[in-house]
Amino acid sequence: MMSGQPPRRAAGRHFLQIPGPTNVPDRVLRAIDNPTIDHRGPDFGRLTRRILANLKLVFRTEAPVVIFPASGTGAWEAALVNTLSPGDGVLMCRTGWFATLWQEMALRLGLVPSFIETDWRRGADAAAIGAALAADREHRIKAVCVVHNETSTGCTTRIDEVRAAIDAADHPALLLVDTISSLASMDYRHDEWRVDVTVGGSQKGLMLPPGLSFNAISAKAIAAAATAALPRSYWDWRAMLAANATGYFPYTPGTNLLYGLDASLEMLLEEGLENVFARHARHAEATRRAVRAWALEIQCADPRHYSSSLTAVRVPQGTSADALRAVILEKFNMSLGNGLGQLKDRVFRIGHLGDFSDLMLVGTLGGVEMGLTAAGVPHRPGGVQAALDYLAADTKKGANR
Ligand SMILES: Cc1ncc(COP(=O)(O)O)c(C=O)c1O
Repeated sequence: MMSGQPPRRAAGRHFLQIPGPTNVPDRVLRAIDNPTIDHRGPDFGRLTRRILANLKLVFRTEAPVVIFPASGTGAWEAALVNTLSPGDGVLMCRTGWFATLWQEMALRLGLVPSFIETDWRRGADAAAIGAALAADREHRIKAVCVVHNETSTGCTTRIDEVRAAIDAADHPALLLVDTISSLASMDYRHDEWRVDVTVGGSQKGLMLPPGLSFNAISAKAIAAAATAALPRSYWDWRAMLAANATGYFPYTPGTNLLYGLDASLEMLLEEGLENVFARHARHAEATRRAVRAWALEIQCADPRHYSSSLTAVRVPQGTSADALRAVILEKFNMSLGNGLGQLKDRVFRIGHLGDFSDLMLVGTLGGVEMGLTAAGVPHRPGGVQAALDYLAADTKKGANR
């Protein structure tokens, strides 16, 4: 390309294989394309009520779920400011970049976070959480905050084990969980795991553009909100819950994104959540087989913590993950996730979540394998073949079931 010239048009559809925002299905795009309506009119109230009922099924809760016209970061803030007071202790786990950002937010809000470190190659250590709570005899820790699926590393925390550790320590702390990159991709149970606030976002498993985020709120969290003293206004659950009760919002909602959410919830329920989770798990397994066949290393070192929504891949010493991603973007029109924080340039991340099929995965892995060769990254060939073999055998097994 000559300098000063616009880049040449790339034929075919762009492969958006970052771990969110994800590909938005045409059905959702068509829904968003409808004319904006009066958000105080009767049609809107019916739309909201249907969405709020279906959202509960995805969060697996009977508790209220609220929707903010905001990115996931807003819902993080809402979870903290509605439940906590200045000076409250919060126990967090540095599982990666996003856990670090949440901790920095807690500090800025005047909370007192303590951080359990990890090597960014596994999820949070439930035993370490249990030990920290058991040592907190004065109950200074008011909340445990965990990122379910750490998007920077591809490591998932076992929330069932965290719940069990809190119970075993007999500690009254609230449990706040970020499911921004796991909701509607991986099994998640707000009620069964007795999570107090689940934080979600629109742009990943829910197959929507960015711009909506969620809090599912337990009765214990609602009770905490009555006495929590951090300043809050826009994020205040009380005004939101009161307005939602009749299908409305305390301020202008993201009307057209809500059309999209209505469609995406319908699609998830049509497919069946169990099938959605199985599809994600299968694509994750096929991807890991490809990575191993390439003789590259998976960032997640504990198979019990493998993520179904993305795989972070370490590049060999002396090679640049960012240079590889740049070649793949330029030559094959595919975006992969970059390394964040201490993983900058050391990993690339393959998103395999959202509206995603076997053939899209094969195309994605094909782009990575060609890119590894084109960028001169040392690897063995055969990753795509390993994924094909797994997908074909698994399909055959399914046909015989
Ligand atoms: C696990 C996790 N938490 C929080 C965030 C922040 O969300 P947002 O960028 O939508 O504000 C992200 C974004 O990717 C994420 O993956």
